[in-house]
Amino acid sequence: MEKLVIQGRTRLEGEVTISGAKNAAVALIPATLLIKGVCTLENLPNISDVQIQCEILKDLGATVEWLDPNTARIDTTNITSHKAPLDKTSKFRASYYLIGALLSRCHNVEVGLPGGCNLGARPIDQHVKGFEALGATVDVATGKVVAHADELVGASIYMDTVSVGATINIMLASVFAKGTTTIDNAAKEPHIVDVANFLNSIGADIRGAGTDIIKINGVEKLKSNSTYSVVPDQIEAGTFMLAAMATQGDIVLKNCISEHLDCLTAKIIEMGGKVIESGDEIRVTCDKRPKKTNIKTAPYPGFPTDLQAQMGVVLALAEGTSVISENIWESRFQYTYELIKMGAKITSQGKTAFFEGVESLSGAPVSATDLRAGAALIVAGIAAEGTTELYNLQHIDRGYENIEEKFRKLGANIIRIRE
Ligand code: EPZ
Repeated sequence: MEKLVIQGRTRLEGEVTISGAKNAAVALIPATLLIKGVCTLENLPNISDVQIQCEILKDLGATVEWLDPNTARIDTTNITSHKAPLDKTSKFRASYYLIGALLSRCHNVEVGLPGGCNLGARPIDQHVKGFEALGATVDVATGKVVAHADELVGASIYMDTVSVGATINIMLASVFAKGTTTIDNAAKEPHIVDVANFLNSIGADIRGAGTDIIKINGVEKLKSNSTYSVVPDQIEAGTFMLAAMATQGDIVLKNCISEHLDCLTAKIIEMGGKVIESGDEIRVTCDKRPKKTNIKTAPYPGFPTDLQAQMGVVLALAEGTSVISENIWESRFQYTYELIKMGAKITSQGKTAFFEGVESLSGAPVSATDLRAGAALIVAGIAAEGTTELYNLQHIDRGYENIEEKFRKLGANIIRIRE
């Protein structure tokens, strides 16, 4: 069993380099199955979701050579199976990308239903709708997805809900489809654009990624021997921006794309923080207690649900009462019960939580309930008076590379103890 022991209260100051985006990396790795050759991916975050995705590719017959902790040379020339190991695919959410990729590569696929953070029901009906529109038969039963397509033919698909995963998965399944596929009401997150950029860099024909309508013209094959660098992680960047607010600190983030964070930046300024953008750096300072604000999570470019918990920590310490409406996931307020153990005054009802700001939080033993909640509780422990012990670190290690080292470099008193 591992835990983080955090001594607060610390004002975070200094520089932090942002890693490659988890939610891009976990899609780019299965996307290499479309190449039937070699590809080198750079700026991969060194996190367990990336490691598992690479293990699955090796189980399918690919070879993965790590040139350094963030660079993998992947050879998918010889794929020997279209069946991903059920025990591994259930460990995280992004295993669903194997469906679209293996449909394109093998026209056959068998993948365990994905796992991932417990955020409530996480259906994949929109993914299935897309695959069936392209001509596949899909059976979702007995805990796995079994799909087959004699031929994949381009189709017009209107998404009932804006879905990151379904948008990327349909893109993957339509790269080689005959004719044109249109995804209407598509998600627009930066990691969707990154996957489209990667595929286009090796010969795919995808237009409109980052807008509501994406068109994919089927091609014959993709080029081998390419190199691609993963986009910076806007959610990790937002996590550190909010840590500067929660600790009234001064943090310079390096290797980020500020446009990906415009919504958060606007909110930070509303709360009295200062944001200075310069090239691939963002500096966030806050020299007084943050003011209250209200948050409504929404698909990009709205406020990201993946920064909701981290914002909750700032609002728990802000002047006045703030409201968060979580409109993406049905159960993403579990972290508030952990913050209440630290002295926060929060009430939640369904999709809405009310934060009555307190002057300070007190360290306490708390548990990460999901990936982003775990990161939020680290920030809470650094901002709190006294000692916080944080458990269930496996959630955090899925999506944040060397997180305690990055916070230690900013002045946090934080150590990982293996009990
Ligand atoms: C991706 O999940 C991210 N995960 C999540 O980040 C993120 O919270 C989410 O997008 C929203 O931005 C990865 O990219 C691996 P969705 P995904 O499909 O693809 C409903 C993190 O912390 N929906 O955009 O599963 C769904 O229930 C993780 O990094 C359907 O109804 O999210 C939800 O209400 C947590 N049917 C909404 O759409 C479907 O077929 C958005 O889901 C698919 C989704």
